[in-house]
Amino acid sequence: MENQNKKDVLILGIESSCDETAASVVRNGREVLSNVISSQIDLHTQFGGVVPEIASRKHIEKINQVIEQALADAGVTLDEITAIGVTYGPGLVGALLVGVAEAKAIAFAARKPLVGVHHIEGHVSANYIEHPDLEPPFVCLIVSGGHTHLVIVKDYGQFEILGRTRDDAAGEAFDKVARAVGLGYPGGPKVDKAAKEGNPHAVEFPRARVEGSPYDFSFSGLKSATLNYINKANMTGQEICVPDLVASFQNAVVEALVSRAVLAAKEHGYHKVAIAGGVASNSALRAAMEEACAKEGLKLYRPSPVYCTDNAAMIGVAAYYEYQKGTRHGWDLNAVPNLKLGERRAL
Ligand code: KG4
Ligand code: ZN
Repeated sequence: MENQNKKDVLILGIESSCDETAASVVRNGREVLSNVISSQIDLHTQFGGVVPEIASRKHIEKINQVIEQALADAGVTLDEITAIGVTYGPGLVGALLVGVAEAKAIAFAARKPLVGVHHIEGHVSANYIEHPDLEPPFVCLIVSGGHTHLVIVKDYGQFEILGRTRDDAAGEAFDKVARAVGLGYPGGPKVDKAAKEGNPHAVEFPRARVEGSPYDFSFSGLKSATLNYINKANMTGQEICVPDLVASFQNAVVEALVSRAVLAAKEHGYHKVAIAGGVASNSALRAAMEEACAKEGLKLYRPSPVYCTDNAAMIGVAAYYEYQKGTRHGWDLNAVPNLKLGERRAL
């Protein structure tokens, strides 16, 4: 590779925790040299959601070519890579295993260090890609298909959890409501699009608060209220205006997310707020966060949509900071489907 400094740390990041097979080369933790994502969305759409067995098989089919493409796009050889970073949890166990096995094989054969990465640490790290000025500490709202966490990022890879969802994750609520109104899979982007044509105040939905836990979330009541609204309309023969309904649902979710993120920053004295995860690509959430942060004098950080949903660049970034801290995994690295945030498994 041209202009390659010997001191540069090049990470090959690998991600296969759900339905995207992805690989990326990241230089010095901040510069994405390549970002290849092979999505299985079309394959799972006919089933209305991710089918784990199909996801694993597809990862196996795609992973070699995705990695080769990532190296080629970056203009580097495997030899020039400093270390291999891979998501080892949380996620679908069969899907995770494909990436972990591949990373171990490459690291072993090419004699490179292996760095296991927490998927959610990856999502948070996506913010470092396009914001060279962003450094911990800051408050981060993590909203994905499986997680809804409000955290203080104390240092790279170090989190203090302030709040989490008590039931459904934000993305899960989007997906379930989309299915109920017939928008299909994947729900989040479809609700986002349909809501643009709707009135967010058309339907009054409950705003759930968790008693005694100001930073916790609960979306199951909102989801039930939406489903009840649909059932009632069906029973009384009333026509449902889908854009109005999903815009109102989305507005309730966004309000819950934004109010807690802003409260956390103010009460804990942080001026920097970041958002991360698939739901962070939601246009209404991005707009509402922008408005609220501007009003409160907070600086908002958010990855471009392509770095919000699953990708391997964010894994390469997280792996870089873990690598710099000295994190190394052995050949016994395993997939940990329920890996907790901040947890380090004994190796
Ligand atoms: O982070 P991600 O790609 O995968 C997980 O780690 O879960 O997040 C996927 C979730 C899905 O629930 C999807 O519906 C949601 O993010 N999502 C969105 C949008 N794009 C993706 N939700 C709302 N609005 C969007 N534009
Ligand atoms: Zn994810």
